[in-house]
Amino acid sequence: MNLLSLFDLEAKQIHQVLKLAGEIKAHPAGYQTCLKGRSIALLFEKPSLRTRVSFEVGIQQLGGQAIYLDAQMVGPGQRESIEDIARNLGCWTHGIVARVFQHDTLTRLACAGLPVVNALCDQHHPCQSLADLLTIQERYPVDLRVVDILFIGEGNNVCQSLMVGAAALDLKLTVVTPAAFGPNEEFLQKLKEHFPHHRIQVKHDLTDVPHADVIYTDTWVSMGDHRPIEETLPIFMPYQVNQDLIDRLQATTVLHCLPAHRNHEITDQVLDGPLSSVLQQAENRLYVQKAVLYMIYQEFAA
Ligand code: CP
Ligand code: NVA
Repeated sequence: MNLLSLFDLEAKQIHQVLKLAGEIKAHPAGYQTCLKGRSIALLFEKPSLRTRVSFEVGIQQLGGQAIYLDAQMVGPGQRESIEDIARNLGCWTHGIVARVFQHDTLTRLACAGLPVVNALCDQHHPCQSLADLLTIQERYPVDLRVVDILFIGEGNNVCQSLMVGAAALDLKLTVVTPAAFGPNEEFLQKLKEHFPHHRIQVKHDLTDVPHADVIYTDTWVSMGDHRPIEETLPIFMPYQVNQDLIDRLQATTVLHCLPAHRNHEITDQVLDGPLSSVLQQAENRLYVQKAVLYMIYQEFAA
């Protein structure tokens, strides 16, 4: 089993991950051996704080060993091919968690038959979305289908994964991005094919949104994106998450995948304010990733 995007999971499996993550969070002692004797390679082409630490800690807590590989040193596609790296890792390890520039690198890493988990690529960040969904569920212990979720910012990896998760679970999601920074067309097509009746709207004018329970934002300049900040700010500033927006929409939760660029996409006042659940969201990365690994390796053990 791979987790290259949330398209790999059925709605039922997403619910299972969230339920298991909640159980692992409440009773971590019951889950200390599922990776016993297993090593997982963490291959990262981009920087990370949350993803790297939460995977390393999570793998250790499940009884396994994490081996961090800086892609600068390993040189995927330069020192040796991505497929050769995967086949070699298959000689010693039992899975690959990878953060890559191109989604295609993940599909190529999967060639060796080792489970591959996407730790962020250009198109998706499924582990982040699972943590987002767990956090929203904890904040609103009701049927999540009644919660109004609003994503504001660039429609790339974090946004697109949230869209897949929301579509799979039939959640109400509005995505508001500057016109040239929406989710990509190929992705939107695929989303529609998988979930013809999804309840996601993509807009470009924030004044078209009357209300949101949850407001979620992400950085305006993603890793590997070399667009100068002087060009970005005038385009994105109308999409800033600030107190005026929260008051107008009567939001009750604010999320951010982090890292945050304070006073760009979100103000200090909001990020540090009473509605901010960003650290709960960061903490939940640990539990959902442990749940994903548990499900992958229990399946193999079965
Ligand atoms: N949210 C997230 O993936 O954080 P890192 O880039 O620090 O891993
Ligand atoms: N969109 C951001 C997410 C960081 C977790 C990026 O790709 O850098």
